[in-house]
Amino acid sequence: MQLGNLSISNAVLLAPMEDVTDIPFRLICKRLGADIVYTEFVNSEGLIRHSEKTKQKMMFLPEERPFGIQIYGGGEGSMEQAARIAEQLQPDLIDINCGCWVRNVVGHGAGAGLLKDLPKMQRIIATVVNSVRLPVTVKTRLGWDTESINIIDVARMIEDTGAKALTIHCRTRAQGHKGDPDYSWISAVKRSVTIPIIVNGGIDTPERAKDVFETTGCDGIMIARGAIQNPWIFAEVKHFLLTGKRLPEPSFEQRLQLLREHLHLSAQHKGERCGVIEFRKHYSGYLCNQPGVSKLRSELMHYVEVQPIFDHIDRFVKVLTTDITTVEPRESLAA
Ligand SMILES: Cc1cc2nc3c(=O)[nH]c(=O)nc-3n(C[C@H](O)[C@H](O)[C@H](O)COP(=O)(O)O)c2cc1C
Repeated sequence: MQLGNLSISNAVLLAPMEDVTDIPFRLICKRLGADIVYTEFVNSEGLIRHSEKTKQKMMFLPEERPFGIQIYGGGEGSMEQAARIAEQLQPDLIDINCGCWVRNVVGHGAGAGLLKDLPKMQRIIATVVNSVRLPVTVKTRLGWDTESINIIDVARMIEDTGAKALTIHCRTRAQGHKGDPDYSWISAVKRSVTIPIIVNGGIDTPERAKDVFETTGCDGIMIARGAIQNPWIFAEVKHFLLTGKRLPEPSFEQRLQLLREHLHLSAQHKGERCGVIEFRKHYSGYLCNQPGVSKLRSELMHYVEVQPIFDHIDRFVKVLTTDITTVEPRESLAA
């Protein structure tokens, strides 16, 4: 797909996720093959009030490029100013969130709330497009609910405003993050517009990714929870698209190695205590497919420093390898 100066074929993107897509996680996903990474959604009101916490959410490192800042809000004026502030940091693109389903975002006429007021959505996107030089993209959903799916009209409108790409989370606002995504609308959207269409929702295996590309004709896919559960998914999808074969699953040792690197990055970028606490959501992705890991995961939740976590993991591995070496002879005897 062509997006401003970027040209990416079969693009596999990391989705914006609040409290998840911070610098450490983005660096990990980037290294594993994510073609574009984004901030979590950044509140336009917070930006124009110069909230330091809100501004921090937009920070990124050069090696994260191509990189997008996602903003959201329900007012044209604040979105215009927010886009200008975001542009000063020189990301590669600005994405507008028109898909967030949570009540207090929707209640302020932002996120998926804009699906209820398309003239306002149009004004906001057009205002942002006209106030920055960067490519502006939009992320939205199929519609408010199954009775009011309007993605084809919305896609045409978004293209007319001058947005450069559209990501479609193939669920409705009413579905939240649950239920099956419905990709069947995408080929009709593709026939209706010329801007790149990126499909999101429920893509968590290489097979699903290939199927989505083939059945929808989309230009890219975007992965959210599948990347938390398995950051290797980007490399796995790309390999599968290229060869039709699956990469071998990462070994437990490889999982632990990446966990250590990710945790280090988290402590480095956020300070040790905060970095360790915020890292907890990632244990489930790294510590799996091994007997005893669910107990290990809950034990690690108690730490607030890095070294005791590494020590605890080392003890776990030692017991594991001792068990294996004592179990193996008995198994071979049985055979
Ligand atoms: C923890 C979490 C935080 C999210 N935060 C954002 C966000 O800041 N901006 C956004 O556009 N979507 C956000 N989403 C939605 C995802 O980007 C994505 O659209 C959704 O999870 C569906 O994709 P999936 O089925 O691959 O998870 C979030 C999702 C999760 C699970």
